[in-house]
Amino acid sequence: MHIAVLNGPNLNLLGEREPELYGRITLGEIEARTRERARALDVEVSWAQTNHEGELVDAIQRLKGKADGVMINAAAFTHTSLAVRDALLAVRVPFVEVHLSNIFAREPERRRSVLADAAVGMVTGFGAESYRLGLEGLVGFLQARRGG
Ligand code: DQA
Repeated sequence: MHIAVLNGPNLNLLGEREPELYGRITLGEIEARTRERARALDVEVSWAQTNHEGELVDAIQRLKGKADGVMINAAAFTHTSLAVRDALLAVRVPFVEVHLSNIFAREPERRRSVLADAAVGMVTGFGAESYRLGLEGLVGFLQARRGG
């Protein structure tokens, strides 16, 4: 089973960026933890981060036929990008949306996700743990769909 993890803009700055909201953990540390959990679950993980909307769209398009599932933290594009939504719908790969912060407890413009209704589910507000929970949820969903 192959899970693609995609990260959007400014997540490369985790660790130094608004630590009161996002904590002190870096994206590299979240990647290492995610890969470790993936190994235990016996799934393959690919990992990407980009600050550019078009690159995120390209990365999603490339997953067609290659990934069984996607875990995405689209960061600010979550709230704005119909292009990212359209790409996810086009490749028809089941995806889970994750956020470090609880987007529903933040400014009004962050309380809406243009991706969420198309997702298998969302994990929001558990800091770096959102990635572990999202991975476990996605793998469980895909295994159940395969019939065990
Ligand atoms: C975020 C929440 C977004 O609103 C924000 O733009 C981010 C990070 C999160 O993980 O909490 O960059 O996706």
